[in-house]
This record gives sequence, structure tokens and C-alpha cells, in this order.
Amino acid sequence: MADSQVEARPAVIILLGPPGAGKGTQARMLQERFGLVQLSTGDLLRAAVAAGTEAGKQAKAVMEAGGLVSDEIVLAVLKDRMEDPDVREGIILDGFPRTTGQAAALDSLLAEQGQKVSAAVSLEVDDAAMVERIAGRFTCANCGEGYHDRFKPPAVDGVCDKCGSTEFTRRPDDNADTVRERMAAYHAQTAPLIAHYERLGVLSRVDAMGPIKDIGQALGAVVQRATG
Ligand code: AP5
Repeated sequence: MADSQVEARPAVIILLGPPGAGKGTQARMLQERFGLVQLSTGDLLRAAVAAGTEAGKQAKAVMEAGGLVSDEIVLAVLKDRMEDPDVREGIILDGFPRTTGQAAALDSLLAEQGQKVSAAVSLEVDDAAMVERIAGRFTCANCGEGYHDRFKPPAVDGVCDKCGSTEFTRRPDDNADTVRERMAAYHAQTAPLIAHYERLGVLSRVDAMGPIKDIGQALGAVVQRATG
């Protein structure tokens, strides 16, 4: 088959970064721009907790304490979601993988489907600034759009820019004690994955301390290169 006839593989983009680095914010922007599907294991686990599933019951206390949910549970909820037809166009993994076990499981899962990681992006930030980002975060209860009291307020106070809802929520794990635990879990168990993706030759580092729009442009360039 000529090169031009080779079927393009769906993109698999990984966003790595500590709590508050902007993974969710940027994943939603990339989703809109590139038509990829955001897969956030945090969102999937929160949905399982809200639905009261067995996985959700086991994950709840761990999440409230800021620890990492077991690889077994995380992989089960992710694989379930990856069977949905919409992910065929390509995915942005937000908050996954987070351990070497999860990274190995992802590599095997993709290999089974003749796929591989297209790009892994490490969002580089100062830990100290992350507490302010997390403390000011709130989310539209209807469509899930993310906001910040100071850095990203809705255009009209109290009204979601995307869907017009006036209901917003704040996450129970967005408190100072839990954030410290989540930071510690990131540095101990997730940061080592940066070297894993560097070895695979797919790692990019993006300075994620600037304005949301500038980071979006830098990330967009990475995704463009990986998918173009
Ligand atoms: P998860 O939901 O993944 O949370 P997290 O990794 O702690 O990340 P956050 O959602 O807090 O931050 P973010 O990087 O998405 O930042 P955001 O864009 O919202 O996980 C929650 C829990 O679930 C974990 O603790 C764990 O227990 C469990 N879990 C999930 N996945 C797991 C896995 N794979 N394995 C095991 N356990 C797992 O931005 C934050 C705020 O800052 C927002 O208000 C935003 O508007 C603002 N902001 C964003 N960018 C900027 C900027 N450039 N400048 C100023 N403000 C900004």
C-alpha cells in the first residue's frame, strides 16, 4: 500500500503534570480544537463515586485523602470508557497514566490495537503556585466547564460561558491538606513517568506557568506535530 493510502492511526496524547497544572483546562481546549476526546481518570472516578458503583465506593476514601486509587480500579474504569465508539478519533489522556504500572498497561493496551502514544506532554509548574490555582477552582455543574475565581472567571458573574447554567460546584478534595498529599503522590509516583516517555522519544515539556491561552498555543503546536 502506498504511504498516502496508509490509514492514519488515532492520536493518543498524554498530559502529565501535578494537581493544578492545567491538564483539564488544556485537555478541554485541545478537544475543541482537534476533535480529540478528553479522557480524565479523575472525572471517570468522580462519576463512579457519584453513581455509587463498587469501583466508586472503593475509590472515594482514597480520593478524599489525596492518595492514588489502585491501578486495578483505574484501569477498569478507563478500559470501559475506551470501548465507547467516540474515542476512535483519538484521545487526550488527562491524569493517566500516573504510575509505572499504569504506563505499562497503557503501552500493552495500545499495542494490542496497533497503536502507540503519539505525544506525552509534561506541564511544568511551580508547586507553590498550584495551591492558589486549586483553591480558586470551580466547575459548571451542568457541562463541566472549569473556572477560577481569579484566573478564569465566567464572562458574566455566576453564569457558565458554555451552557448558561448558574449551578457551579467545588471539589471536596480541593483543600490545602489534600492538595499536599496529591502533590506528594505526583512527585513520588507520577513524575518518574516523564523519563519513561523521554526514553520512548515522545516527550515534550511545556512551561505551564503563563496565561492559559499561551500554554494552549504551545500545546496545540505539539499536538499538531504529533497528528499532522
Ligand atoms: P484529578 O481529577 O486527575 O486531579 P489532579 O491530577 O489532582 O489534577 P487537577 O484536576 O486538580 O488539576 P488540573 O491539572 O486538571 O488543573 P485544572 O485544569 O483543573 O484526580 C483526582 C483524584 O482522583 C486523584 O487525587 C486520585 O485520587 C484519583 N485519580 C485520578 N486519576 C488517577 C489515576 N490515573 N491513578 C490513580 N488515582 C487517580 O486547573 C486548576 C485551576 O487553575 C482551574 O481553576 C483553572 O481555571 C486554573 N488554571 C488552569 N491553568 C491556569 C493557568 N495557566 N494560569 C492560571 N490559572 C490556571
